[in-house]
Amino acid sequence: MRRRLPLTIGVVASLALGAAIAVPQIASASSTLGQHAAARGKYFGSATDNPELTDAPYVSILSSEFNQITPGNTMKWQYTEPQQGQFSYGQADTVVSLARSNNQSVRGHTLVWHSQYPGWVDSVPANQLLGVMRNHVTNVAGHFQGQVIHWDVVNEAFEENGTRRQSVFQRNIGDSYIAEAFRAARAADPAAKLYYNDYNIEGLGAKSDAVYAMVQQFKAQGVPIDGVGMQAHLILGQVPSSIRQNIQRFADLGVDVAITELDIRMNLPRDATKDAQQANDYRTVVDACLAVTRCVGITVWDYTDKYSWIPSVFPGQGAALPYDENLNKKPAYTAIHDALAGTTTPPTTPTTTTPTSGPGGCTATYQIVSQWTGGFQANVTVRNTGTSAMNAWAVRWSFGAGQTVTNLWNGVVSSSGANVTVRNATYNGTIPANGTTSFGFLGSWTGSNPAPTGLTCGST
Ligand code: G3I
Repeated sequence: MRRRLPLTIGVVASLALGAAIAVPQIASASSTLGQHAAARGKYFGSATDNPELTDAPYVSILSSEFNQITPGNTMKWQYTEPQQGQFSYGQADTVVSLARSNNQSVRGHTLVWHSQYPGWVDSVPANQLLGVMRNHVTNVAGHFQGQVIHWDVVNEAFEENGTRRQSVFQRNIGDSYIAEAFRAARAADPAAKLYYNDYNIEGLGAKSDAVYAMVQQFKAQGVPIDGVGMQAHLILGQVPSSIRQNIQRFADLGVDVAITELDIRMNLPRDATKDAQQANDYRTVVDACLAVTRCVGITVWDYTDKYSWIPSVFPGQGAALPYDENLNKKPAYTAIHDALAGTTTPPTTPTTTTPTSGPGGCTATYQIVSQWTGGFQANVTVRNTGTSAMNAWAVRWSFGAGQTVTNLWNGVVSSSGANVTVRNATYNGTIPANGTTSFGFLGSWTGSNPAPTGLTCGST
């Protein structure tokens, strides 16, 4: 059951152009993701892009649910300096204005990247590229001075094995281009926190080790770096187990950490089992950020499957975001909400039947494996307590609070009102003496989810 929220009072920096005015945020059970994050001293934001801003229902949620915005494209070099020395800020200004009107902070993304830059950059003579890069950073960071809380100064500069990516900047300027970009950004906007941003650095590994070493070196050399952005374009069921430890080790270097582009993709089509796994995965990421003081916030890479970049780049995959393509909340939304709200998962005490008597008897042990608001996953273990093998089994119970089974595996379910019967599947009816088999299911609940009553197991 969702516990009643205490009136959690947090303090966040005012979003008014970086002014350090502290305002209290009070979150209630029905608060938005942004409000819950603010109550924990963090932000929860979304990327967006200009074409989507004509979609009024989309904008309504974007404007109300999140307290931070990242322009997904229109601050990139391709858009801001399409011809050399000709700067163009109209589209990015539109996103920033919208965010400001909604009291949302803005992450600037991104100043120097090997992708989405205009073709003329490739033609700049090698010995002029440092000046050209500095000029770009100076102009763009200068234009948005005071309007962005963070800049992703350099994006994706490392390969998976931890070596430098051979971008045009790396090839023509050399290793120093990253530090030079940070120095130019600091000079142009001294108040913005300056981030290095990359993907596949959420867990421990060669690539995050390389970024770690660079941050350590920058700190030692006085290069102005304030944060590391972990993009977190993740795969269902594959949240790195070291994510919290990895966030903490960067924080321990004296930089902030932000989860900057979170999405968790799956093989399509969606189903209830995948949605449940995705909800758990989102919760893992949010909990990892909440556990580290210097993890300052989380941004999803747009909030709805309607506008996700995933299907066009990973054919057959998608459904990566907390809202579906019809702007309905998915289980992932609830998981994020409850993690930010600090809602505790109810105890999952196993419920065990008493053995039925006589040969061929069996017991059933019912256990809730995980639970989130509105849903849960349970596992039932069937044990043959008789002295000979049984060839069929049936487990029965009654739900006492309106719960329902929504999706069951390794068994065949039939329900009648509150009464549920699960019989063996064709392949797991035979259980040797003292052997076990099990089935699992996803269920739904509202209000409370007490253990079922009348749990029995029999051979028919
Ligand atoms: O603007 C043109 C439009 O005129 C044209 O009609 C249309 C046809 O395809 O393409 C439009 O450009 C697209 C652009 O997004 C704007 O929608 C590009 O084709 C498309 O490749 C581009 O994709 C962006 C991608 O970066 C490029 O690598 C995604 O929207 C954007 O979400 C994505 O974001 C990156 C982060 O910046 C860095 N981390 C990875 C992340 C995902 O790739």
